[in-house]
Amino acid sequence: MGGDSDNGMDVMNETGAQVPVGIDRMAWYTPNHFLDLDDLARARDVDPDKYRTGIGQRRMAVPTLDQDIVAMGANAAQRLLDGVDTRRIGLLIMATESGIDQSKASALFVQEILGLGHDMRAIEIKEACYGGTAGLQIAADYVRVHPGRTALVIAADIARYGLRSGGEVTQGAGAVAMLVARSPRLMRLEPESVCRSMSVGDFWRPNYATEAMAKGKYSEQVYLRMVDDIWHASKGRGLTREEGLAALLFHIPFTKMGRKGLRSLETQLDPDVYARLTRRFEAAIVYGRDVGNIYTGSLYLSLISLLANDPTLGEGNRIGLFSYGSGAVAELFFGVLQPGFRSVLDAEGDRVLLEGRQRLSLEGYETIFSRSLVTDGSTQVLEQGDPHAPHRLVRLERHERVYR
Ligand code: CAA
Repeated sequence: MGGDSDNGMDVMNETGAQVPVGIDRMAWYTPNHFLDLDDLARARDVDPDKYRTGIGQRRMAVPTLDQDIVAMGANAAQRLLDGVDTRRIGLLIMATESGIDQSKASALFVQEILGLGHDMRAIEIKEACYGGTAGLQIAADYVRVHPGRTALVIAADIARYGLRSGGEVTQGAGAVAMLVARSPRLMRLEPESVCRSMSVGDFWRPNYATEAMAKGKYSEQVYLRMVDDIWHASKGRGLTREEGLAALLFHIPFTKMGRKGLRSLETQLDPDVYARLTRRFEAAIVYGRDVGNIYTGSLYLSLISLLANDPTLGEGNRIGLFSYGSGAVAELFFGVLQPGFRSVLDAEGDRVLLEGRQRLSLEGYETIFSRSLVTDGSTQVLEQGDPHAPHRLVRLERHERVYR
């Protein structure tokens, strides 16, 4: 993984030049129901401005039972597979903290649903919201060693805190899929980055719980401490090079958190640089503000949002990405936009995904929220929540999940 000890080398070609490795394609999915947070504020007797500006969220995605992480992950990946030679995929990683099985990797279900070949490693990774970055860095290292192969990384999660809980307004659901390859069309990843890991109890979900537990304010403090620590370490190693940084992205559990991360660096940045990063931050939160927290995928949804909503970005622009996973692991890494990166994005598809969603009433949200999958081995046939999604969980039968 690209960390402090990384030697900074990419794949070499025959002439000894470095061959870039990075994100070749990206796509995402979110379920087609949402709750407007003004409706939630009214129901919880909270000033709507608290949610809109205090938390920085407008809407949250509400998944029906048939859109679990496997279905959402497959739906995201389906959007990028057109024209991809899937026989070259040698590694499939599902990053999630909403796992459906203690033993079998959700990647195996996704592999089957998408009809991928068997000549690959298919695994699942967990470290809270950092899992997507762990998957991406492992995938990049894999491609550096096996330049003829590609890797598919899917970050899929359902953020669930419970009705009337402190975190309720920061719930969400969705998945981001990334194809990692040499000579990527979207973003080259710099091999050097800075990581931090330390055991803290800011947010967790015991195996027996269906809802996350968080020491909310403490988790914000740990997040900001990590931003500070990692930024200084990166600066000390000459990695930030902020004068030329086009954008700085953050893990977005709710948009105010990323904003706090950026603001915490204000005094250390030249005012013009800070103004540029702030302007681009606004473009990076357009999608997340309406989807909510998608844990492992949230940083990457922010990247897609930035690229889709900021027409001023161009080839060669360098972007910093701060990844944070409670528990806690954080990493600051950097990528450079590649020529023609816009041609591999699907901003129109994103618009259809977001604008085609159905608004739920508060009662509708609470009804969906209170539904659960059977745990007694009986057969449960699930209603189709999203008529446009190609993949879904159709039933449970003798404790096994059946997808279509
Ligand atoms: N108008 C405008 N703003 C208002 C307001 C109003 N009427 N009323 C309150 N606010 C502001 C507050 O001043 C506060 O702002 P600051 O954070 O800038 O101080 C903000 O709204 C939040 O209000 P509270 O301080 O009252 O906080 P809360 O009790 O509502 O809890 C929370 C907020 C801690 C984030 C809670 O939602 C939570 O526990 N969320 C889950 C945990 C989480 O997401 N942690 C983030 C870091 S961990 C991580 O990143 C990993 C991950 O994905 C979970």
